[in-house]
Amino acid sequence: MAAQVTSVPGQPTTGARVEPILETRSVSRRFGGLVAVDQVSIVIPRGSISSVIGPNGAGKTTLFNMIAGIYRPSAGEIRFDGDVLSRASDMGRARYRRPDQIMEAGIARTFQNIRLFANMTALENVQVGMHSRMKAGAVGAMLRTAAVRREEADSRIRAIELLDYVGLGRHAESTAKNMSYGDQRRLEIARALASEPRLLLLDEPTAGMNPQETAGMTRFFDQMRQDLNLTVLLIEHDMKVVMGISDHVSVLDHGQKIAEGTPDEVRANEQVIEAYLGKDAEQTAAALASRQQQVDDGATEVTNS
Ligand SMILES: Nc1ncnc2c1ncn2[C@@H]1O[C@H](COP(=O)(O)OP(=O)(O)O)[C@@H](O)[C@H]1O
Ligand SMILES: [Mg+2]
Repeated sequence: MAAQVTSVPGQPTTGARVEPILETRSVSRRFGGLVAVDQVSIVIPRGSISSVIGPNGAGKTTLFNMIAGIYRPSAGEIRFDGDVLSRASDMGRARYRRPDQIMEAGIARTFQNIRLFANMTALENVQVGMHSRMKAGAVGAMLRTAAVRREEADSRIRAIELLDYVGLGRHAESTAKNMSYGDQRRLEIARALASEPRLLLLDEPTAGMNPQETAGMTRFFDQMRQDLNLTVLLIEHDMKVVMGISDHVSVLDHGQKIAEGTPDEVRANEQVIEAYLGKDAEQTAAALASRQQQVDDGATEVTNS
């Protein structure tokens, strides 16, 4: 039989047909009796800025944690670049890659609640992110062979370049915990980029930022996509943040995907409006017109992880 180029399930039929970089197929995750993510299928076009939005508790972070390998799906399958990252037994032979293997495969992420090494410098935090790309190994590191020293020097140069790139060049020697909140968010991105990802997952990256910082940050996502040949997948509960920059938006509510499409399609979707604000359409219009950033409770914490 001749090779056949088939359409990708879930791929929008309009617009350019691009092979998806990430795909979840009927992915679920249960915690005891709670179905945090319920048979969610999403397709992330390569090179896109895509978003997963939904009210607090919708299951967004749980979905990210499954993609990153922190949680195993209770059902369904996750594919990245044509490979199976995770597969629950309902989809065939179960398979679960570890978080470090998933990072190695080219997925990096930031956390809803910033996780940096609080007492380390910005530079050191980025160098930690490079770890998966270093080759000399533990024995070499102990003996501090010439190869190790060269690798360390290279990693330092590369880390400084990355700090420059995210706008933190002056802060290389600053201790993470002493940096401003917005700078810590940027540092997390630099650390994620250090693993040279092809897909960057950002969990509420602008939470706690003021409107100016948010605008600057969202422009930066597009810049990264272009400069670094990245696909960016954002999680946001505030839909205004993602509307201007997303090519594709998926909406979760109570664990289920209730809508997807372009920002305009999603914005006009009745179920989405209800999920966010109940049935009062006027209230909805007003709320969408004005920014309603909720500051995430844990957003200012810096933990030693
Ligand atoms: N480790 C866990 N154990 C138990 N319940 C969890 C766990 N993680 C998330 N949940 C629950 O799953 C639901 C979805 O949470 P989450 O994915 O964090 O939502 P979102 O990121 O959309 O705000 C919530 O009801 C939350 O309490
Ligand atoms: Mg979350």
